[in-house]
Amino acid sequence: MIGTGYVGLVTGTCFADSGNDVVCVDIDQKKVERLKQGDIPIYEPGLSEMVTRNVAHGRLKFTTQVAECVPGANCVFLAVGTPQGEDGSADLKYLFAAADSIAPHLSTQTVVVIKSTVPVGTNRKVANRLKELLGRDVDVASNPEFLKEGCAIDDFTKPDRVVVGSDRPEPADLLQELYKPFLRTEKPYLAMGLESAEMTKYVANCLLATKISFINEMANLCERVGADINDVRRGIGHDQRIGFAFLFPGVGYGGSCFPKDVRALFSVAREKGMKLNMLEAVDNVNNQQKNVLFSKISEHFGGKLKGKKIAVWGLAFKPKTDDIREAPALVLIDQLLAEGAQVHVNDPVAIENVEAIYGTKLTYHDHHYDAATGADCLAIVTEWNEYRTPDFDYLKLKMKSPTIFDGRNLYNPVKMTKAGFNYSGIGLLVPKS
Ligand SMILES: NC(=O)c1ccc[n+]([C@@H]2O[C@H](COP(=O)([O-])OP(=O)(O)OC[C@H]3O[C@@H](n4cnc5c(N)ncnc54)[C@H](O)[C@@H]3O)[C@@H](O)[C@H]2O)c1
Repeated sequence: MIGTGYVGLVTGTCFADSGNDVVCVDIDQKKVERLKQGDIPIYEPGLSEMVTRNVAHGRLKFTTQVAECVPGANCVFLAVGTPQGEDGSADLKYLFAAADSIAPHLSTQTVVVIKSTVPVGTNRKVANRLKELLGRDVDVASNPEFLKEGCAIDDFTKPDRVVVGSDRPEPADLLQELYKPFLRTEKPYLAMGLESAEMTKYVANCLLATKISFINEMANLCERVGADINDVRRGIGHDQRIGFAFLFPGVGYGGSCFPKDVRALFSVAREKGMKLNMLEAVDNVNNQQKNVLFSKISEHFGGKLKGKKIAVWGLAFKPKTDDIREAPALVLIDQLLAEGAQVHVNDPVAIENVEAIYGTKLTYHDHHYDAATGADCLAIVTEWNEYRTPDFDYLKLKMKSPTIFDGRNLYNPVKMTKAGFNYSGIGLLVPKS
């Protein structure tokens, strides 16, 4: 497993857990050292125990040296990052560097599997590159990953489907064997061409991002026309053609996938002379949505935020992860700091990552009530479970002003108003106090 991040570590560990011998490789020496000591560098529920168990059984190892593990491997997975490049397209430098590093060690039977999310055509380019380096054909298969951070192990071990793209049936058959333990409930193993597999991953993420931007825009309109997005959601969701999934309004999507994958797809389309109008709008709506909490807060204080104490609950881009890549909380924090507010933050697991960026510019609290103590208002950005049912009387007592800007619609506006809070959500109808 080349690349031991959110995807590589989970994938490698789950394959080890189903009885395979797995070596996870990373160029980040510190990360590998920590893993060797049993210290898991990311927060992912259940992962630490699983890593420890498989290391103890000798099925899972960590190294920085491809030469130690690539020779003789049945499969070499590439799970390195494919971040957004300067022009919006996917930056493939880590992927090609990884391909170059494994090339001299590949055995003739080894299948190279690209798990990273890569633009259409990349698997073929990697195959060509390996052929150029080795002077022979190498099987390259595309195996996009659909796991969600926060429930990555469950998603990996109980996938809705496994998608594999390849030119020949043999690599697809080998991967089907590998995935068999996870497909025992008749979930489909979908073999297809390389390009279709690559495209599947982007289309899936882009459709999910589209649903989020769509409901966010509708929620914003609800606020202006006196409708309630929760009623509207109920009104539409029972229609089986629509459903409820992924139609929760909020402060915009973040994370390491949706933003970059949406942009990468419209950048691929542009290269082909096509403009993806809808996806460009999805991205624009999302960027605007990340400003929504700040606009509301600023309006509430008449634009005078200097010296105001603002509490922020939730920093990770979503609950159950410490990942803050493209997190909406960071956009809000930047705006608040720029206006001279004092920002007090809490997050169950992401504080360390945020502190690494902001240092002393923020005040960090281990407990969410402490962050809200003396605050002029509270902004809720990530829907961590521990924020769902606070002791409102206590919170009201602690805050300087009982004002909540809820970016995740966690509470009932009627109850909040009755309890004496100045409460607003995203697209919610809030009774006048
Ligand atoms: N994070 C997710 O939820 C998720 C879900 C599905 C797909 N993906 C895709 O999976 C890929 C990996 O994402 P991630 O979130 O795990 O990334 P990550 O940044 O957490 O991890 C990538 C790792 O690869 C390592 N690396 C880079 N170059 C290397 C090399 N040459 N050799 C060995 N290691 C190298 C880095 O040091 C890093 O530890 C991306 O393409 C992403 O789009 C991510």
